[in-house]
Amino acid sequence: MTIAEAKIEIERLSELIHQYNYSYYVETSSKISDFEFDTLLKNLQELEAEFPTLSSVNSPTKRVGADISKKFETVEHEYPMLSLSNTYSQEEIIEWENRIKKLVDGPIEYVCELKYDGVAIGIKYIDGQLIRALTRGDGEKGEDVTANVRTIQSIPLILKNDYPKDFEIRGEIFMPHAQFKRLNDERLENGEPLFANPRNTAAGSIKLLDSKIVSERGLDSFLYGIYASSLADEGHFESVERAANWGFKIPQQQNRFIEKTNSIEGIMNFIDFWNTERENLPFDIDGIVIKVNNYQQQKSLGFTAKSPRWAISYKFKANRVETILESVVYQVGRTGAITPVANLSPVSLGGTTVKRASLHNADQIQKLDLNIGDTVFLEKGGEIIPKIVGVNIEKRKTGTTPIIFIENCPECQTKLIRLEGEAHHYCSNEQDCPPQVKGKIEHFISKKALDIDGLGSETIDLLYTKNLVKNPADLYDLTFEQLINLDRMAEKSAKNLILGIENSKKSTFERILFGLGIRFVGETVAKKLAKQFISIDNLQHAELNELVETEEIGEKIAVSVQAYFKDENNLKLIKRLINNGLRFELEEKEMLSSILIDKIVVVSGTFTTFSREELKELIEKNGGKNASSISSKTSYLLAGENMGPAKLKQATSLKVQILSEDEFIKLISS
Ligand code: IVH
Repeated sequence: MTIAEAKIEIERLSELIHQYNYSYYVETSSKISDFEFDTLLKNLQELEAEFPTLSSVNSPTKRVGADISKKFETVEHEYPMLSLSNTYSQEEIIEWENRIKKLVDGPIEYVCELKYDGVAIGIKYIDGQLIRALTRGDGEKGEDVTANVRTIQSIPLILKNDYPKDFEIRGEIFMPHAQFKRLNDERLENGEPLFANPRNTAAGSIKLLDSKIVSERGLDSFLYGIYASSLADEGHFESVERAANWGFKIPQQQNRFIEKTNSIEGIMNFIDFWNTERENLPFDIDGIVIKVNNYQQQKSLGFTAKSPRWAISYKFKANRVETILESVVYQVGRTGAITPVANLSPVSLGGTTVKRASLHNADQIQKLDLNIGDTVFLEKGGEIIPKIVGVNIEKRKTGTTPIIFIENCPECQTKLIRLEGEAHHYCSNEQDCPPQVKGKIEHFISKKALDIDGLGSETIDLLYTKNLVKNPADLYDLTFEQLINLDRMAEKSAKNLILGIENSKKSTFERILFGLGIRFVGETVAKKLAKQFISIDNLQHAELNELVETEEIGEKIAVSVQAYFKDENNLKLIKRLINNGLRFELEEKEMLSSILIDKIVVVSGTFTTFSREELKELIEKNGGKNASSISSKTSYLLAGENMGPAKLKQATSLKVQILSEDEFIKLISS
């Protein structure tokens, strides 16, 4: 291909991919299959690699993350990025509206919007090309996070239709609940500390130096303000609406994300609606923003030092109560990480009774300056987890002293260690600390690992107390006689358990690898490692650079894998498992059919013939892919009993075909 031909082809592919991206992420409708999309993207990547001079900064290939930056440059905002004056009471909104009426001549229109709980962003476009994205910073100067913003799929890189030549659009970048949950589920699985809430995670993500990681965080955006030297419209509402034509994801009227009204009643109605309805949104909002619509009127109202007079925000009162901190207990996880947990006087908060709240780590306790017996403020935000946010110092009793973090493991008395740069204290007694030992066995037998039926945490506890198991390999030495002699163990359960243990020997290498519980090796990483190294022997002897060169494996994981194999106890464990017939080698997957090739299936609910994990395996063995949430790309929803109504509704509205277990079995056997 000549360079001239390549140029034409690159432009054609870019244009196509931009269009498909827009349909998928902004209009939420899918026009082509994943496979076709990936092929287009791959073709473009290959051409750009061959002709690097033709690769543009706004190429759709940049969505997957570009270079790692050392730090962010600080750049002055063209229009200062102000904040809003906040109120918490409806009376203040009435007062604000009365003031506006006195200051402005003629009829006034107000625009009511959601106050998205994320990070503000200002994005500059020239000639329809994304040029630069800045954070708010101090309002005067922001940080240049362009490479990261380019990875957010709902933000267009190239505009369409009648966009202004030179303008800035502002909005909020946030993390939807589903992404936040996915991220924390992964972290839990990998034994990493959890993120506190979607807002902080979004803020942290947009400032990551590696845009590849940002691209995997699932950030989203809503854009809500246009800034230019001259605008075609008379008002804010109309400009924002017009920006939709240029390809932006803007708040929609249909779902009441934005609304125009000319009365205080209209404003109050909007506030009341979202005060309760916000619980059902798939992302967090922390209030409502009310803006005077007309640009002329905005101009005449002007600004105070910090915020515009033409806008105000009504912040929802966080669900907040006071209660007494009775004591702090320390939990030991399977990796040895210590989590302090507050025991509280039971208190009702947002519809549930709260008795405990995680304090995360030593720094958090210190930051909150907690004493036992303190009256603490407890909040529940949009997220479901209750959180201690502060102490009511006025109510502090004399004679109380600050909580001092424990120095020894509460379970085995080993001296705790805290590695540099880590938030958690650890107990290093991996082999003998009871919760670590039991936790590792629980992990080994869990659904996504060896999936041993009939073995729950209570039975593990019992087996451990009776000295029958001290590590996963001991499970394979258990006899029927030993089990039947345990309290509360019926003959049938004992038989089932023996059968379950026997069956687990057929588990795949990747499941076993995951089950070993190597720190930072979650389900996905285990799959990648198994695929790359084929056998435990290869993995054990892999050099650091070989590990790091594996897809999705960074240095942190690589170091952890090597450390695991340096421990004699772990090598002994693997040897015993191998002797018991477990397969530490990748086996070519026997494919049953290719009937589900290119199909994405979401499995939800409970089933009668197969377990959910078995169904997922069947999907893969018939060529399909599993997904956890429904999108317009989903081909089938495999629906069992007790499935959440939200999923069903979503599937129906996206016209996803719904299959029962029987229909699914019929499909794959046809
Ligand atoms: S308008 C001149 N509209 O709230 C102020 N802001 O406290 C222009 N925010 O930094 C802001 N949703 O990050 C506006 N619909 C919305 C918003 C919104 C969230 C955030 C934004 C801003 C902060 C102001």
